[in-house]
Formats: sequence, structure tokens, C-alpha cells
Amino acid sequence: MTDTSAPLVSLRGRRVILGVTGGIAAYKAVEVCRRLVDAGAHVAPVLTDDALRFVGALTFSALASEPARTSLFDGPDPIPHTRLGQSADLIVVAPATAKLLGKYAAGISDDLLTATLLATRAPVLVAPAMHTEMWEHPAVQENLTTLRRRGVHVVDPEAGRLAGGDEGEGRLADPARIVGAVAAALATGDLAGVRVLVTAGGTREPLDPVRFVGNRSSGKMGHAVADVAARRGAAVTLVTAADHPATDVVEVVRVETADEMADAVLGRFAEVDVVVMAAAVADFRPKATTAQKLKKHDGVPEVVLEPTPDILATLGERKQPHQVLVGFAAETEHVREHAATKLAAKRVDLMVANDVSAPDAGFEVDTNRAVLLYSSGSAEEIPLMPKPDLAGLILDRIVESLKGNQ
Ligand code: C5P
Repeated sequence: MTDTSAPLVSLRGRRVILGVTGGIAAYKAVEVCRRLVDAGAHVAPVLTDDALRFVGALTFSALASEPARTSLFDGPDPIPHTRLGQSADLIVVAPATAKLLGKYAAGISDDLLTATLLATRAPVLVAPAMHTEMWEHPAVQENLTTLRRRGVHVVDPEAGRLAGGDEGEGRLADPARIVGAVAAALATGDLAGVRVLVTAGGTREPLDPVRFVGNRSSGKMGHAVADVAARRGAAVTLVTAADHPATDVVEVVRVETADEMADAVLGRFAEVDVVVMAAAVADFRPKATTAQKLKKHDGVPEVVLEPTPDILATLGERKQPHQVLVGFAAETEHVREHAATKLAAKRVDLMVANDVSAPDAGFEVDTNRAVLLYSSGSAEEIPLMPKPDLAGLILDRIVESLKGNQ
């Protein structure tokens, strides 16, 4: 089961103005609003007249942190735009129509949203959505070039189904991506602006509807890496097979099997800078699974196993020079030798090797001891320490590696 609607956290206390303009994708802004609130942001919605043709202000008022505003003149505040603009930590416009982009690029202020955009010094993000012909029109593209030059962040649209049954580029970016971009734009810390994907936990490979082949991984190490990376400013996606609550990450994808983890990780790889594969992905799974529970009276089943996809090895093949890939090697003997072989075979930059036969390190416990092996051939012995401390140390090495890639 893959759940991409799990709560998102990391914008605690940040004041975000959500501008909504009049396109069919305005209904998706409801989801953006909900995710921003779930992420801890204080959300103030501002809807244009045309947005109100597609969605109701009441929907946003009910979900956001304060009532939706729709006009420069309808409230008690005589100058709402300057107050909104000055108090914002960030403004995100989703969807942003061609009309909004044109007015913003030209400096035209004729409603509350455009007035607020001109009255702010906060970072601004626009997530355009429109038909492909409009998206590709030189006027729209030139307006975007102007806005980008002025420091506006653009969350590019995706290709897919558009209004009226058409297909093509111009569909509003996925709400999770928009919220991730908001988090990245607001981040501070040595990983600010870095997109990190972390996997955690042990996958479960079903044998029948109630039984599975699993392992002893608790997910503590991976969740620690995700939490510490988020606290240091990274936009973190956590793909986890563990039950822990995830804190301070931008996106949580809950998975069960190696196949589900592979889909979640490979589908996001092109958009991230760093992958830390801390998950204990099952190497084998039952070749056959039954739809009904295996019954005792049918005799002892013969379980035949087959290999799972090696996610890390696939990432190693697809890795671009700017990306940093970190693997974990849980070993019970010849730790360094086995881990060094995996480092080379899977083409990772850093392999974190640990001896999981030791009672105070590895699976299920709160502490870990590791050897860090680098693609350069060097190695570093890390003494026993709490998992969040080891996470911090691994992230220090990742920061150095990212600097080296620049
Ligand atoms: O070969 P081994 O399973 O020991 O390698 C461990 C590393 O490879 C871990 O980082 C783990 O997340 C990753 N892995 C994977 N896909 C698999 C098995 C392991 O990505 N099917």
C-alpha cells in the first residue's frame, strides 16, 4: 500500500499566503492548502474573482488558518495587500494562470493578489497551469523568464490530462511537489535547497494475505537520517516501510514491499540530489503469493523464493554526476570486505557498513557503530553513538560530497 497523503511537516510557524487564480486546476489548490496546514504553516488564502468561478472561498476558509480574502475592498482593513505582503514569509500562487503571470511580470496591480505580490519582499513561488498551447506561447515563456530573473521560483507544470480531454504539458504540478518547493524556498541550514530522499524500515514480502517474509529492521536509522536532514534545511521525502511517525519531512510515502519501494524511489530519483538507502530491502520474496490464507490442513507449503529488484543498483546505473548516493550494508561477518564489494557493485558514493550481529548496533536498537566506506577507497571507523548522531555525521559527509560536485 502506497500512501502519499500522509501528513507533511516542516513549515511550523511559517506564514504562507496561498494565491489561487482562475483555472480548472484551482480545485487542486484545496489540496495544496491542506498540505501546507498539515506541514504546520499558517496559511492565508487569497482568491481572485476568476478563481471563485471554480472553487468556493468557504472551502479555503474552512481549511486554512484564517478566512480566505477575495478583494482589496471587502474587509475591515483598508490596505490588506500591504499587511499581507509585509507579514508573509512566502507567497505561493497555485495555480498561476497566464493572466496572473502576465500581470505580475508587467507590474500590474488590479486586485488583491497582484497588489500583494507587488507589496512583498518575501520569496514568491508560482505554479503555472494552463493548456499546452498557452504554456508554450512565447509571451508566457518570456514572462516566466522575466519573473525567474527577478528571483521568482517557478514550479514547472507536468505533462498529463488537461481540461476538455486534451493531453499535454501544462498540468499543475503535483500538490506534494508544490509544498516541497515551498519548504525548500523557506529552508535555512547547511542542507537548505537540497532535495534528499531517504528510505527506511524493512520491507515485507507477502506469502499469503496474513503472512510475509520480513526482516528485523526497525526503521530507526532511516527515520533519524530523514529527521536530521529536514532540521538542517533539506526538502526530505521519506519512503518508509516502518510504522514510526515521521516528523519534519516534506513528503512521506508509506510502502510495504520491495516493489512498492522501487516504484516510489525510482519515480522520484530524477528530482532529488541525494538518496540515502537506509532501508533493509528484502533480497528475496516468495515467488508465489496466494489470494487466500494458506491452511494448516493442506500441509506444510514449499516456499520458493525469487530475487527482488535491487533499487540501489538501479540508482547507481542512473546516477547523474551532481547526485550523491548512500547505501547501507548490514553484515554479520567480514563487514568491511562485503561492504566494499557492494559499494563497487552498486556504484554508490558512500557505503555505511555495520555489524548487525553486535547487540548494541544495527537492527532495532537506538545506537549504531559503523564503518564509512567511500568510492575513493578510503574508510572511516565510527564508534558507538546514538543513531541521530550517526545520521548527522553521514549528512556532514554528504554536504562535503555535494560541495565537491559543484
Ligand atoms: O546487498 P544488500 O541488500 O546487503 O545491500 C544493502 C543496500 O542495498 C542497502 O542500502 C539497501 O537499501 C539496498 N538494497 C536495495 N534493493 C534491494 C536490496 C538492497 O536498494 N533489493
